[in-house]
Amino acid sequence: MKLFLDTASVTEIRTMWNVGILDGVTTNPTLVAKEGRKFEEVLREICALGVPSVSAEVVATDTAGMVAEGRRLREIHPSIYVKVPMTSAGLAATRTLAGEGTRVNMTLVFSANQALLAAKVGAAYVSPFIGRLDDQSQDGMDLIRDIVTIYRNYRYPTQVLVASVRHPVHVLEAAKLGADIATMPFGVMEKLVQHPLTDLGLARFLKDWEKVPKA
Ligand code: E4P
Repeated sequence: MKLFLDTASVTEIRTMWNVGILDGVTTNPTLVAKEGRKFEEVLREICALGVPSVSAEVVATDTAGMVAEGRRLREIHPSIYVKVPMTSAGLAATRTLAGEGTRVNMTLVFSANQALLAAKVGAAYVSPFIGRLDDQSQDGMDLIRDIVTIYRNYRYPTQVLVASVRHPVHVLEAAKLGADIATMPFGVMEKLVQHPLTDLGLARFLKDWEKVPKA
């Protein structure tokens, strides 16, 4: 399973990249706005680290505008995946961009039928937002289960990118269901590493090591 960071913070991305557990990055207009920096500059810095998959979202809402933006974004670096929203215009734009060889991440997906359509137009990734469904009293993980089943039934190559992840149990459940990727905030990825028994165990080992006679 691939683990992505859902952030536009180059500092956070560099930290996890150096740990060696990072497979990719997803950004969105909200995350980019939080950084207060130029979008393209941030994308270039992330790609320069060597991150192999970096999703950058279009903000046009019509098909022609999305296609034009997508073409511009993919020119920035070969690691760029163009993020396109799940609308009729977005489906048409995805078909065109995917036909040209651009890898598209279809975003803002909240139903299995939307995911089916994303696969039909050739999206490389589909991004179901599970946390936002949980917030509406609908179990987001049920959606992941349905999408994984449908894609397996028809052998669609589109990868399931679990988005809007809020805590480590989301990652665990997504992995058990066989999702391809989970994208998460920095704090959630940090929690995947940590366990209080690891810290206690290490502290005890180091304390006991002090009792070992040294040369
Ligand atoms: C993923 O690509 C999205 O940017 C993201 O996961 C949305 O998460 P949120 O619901 O926490 O904003």
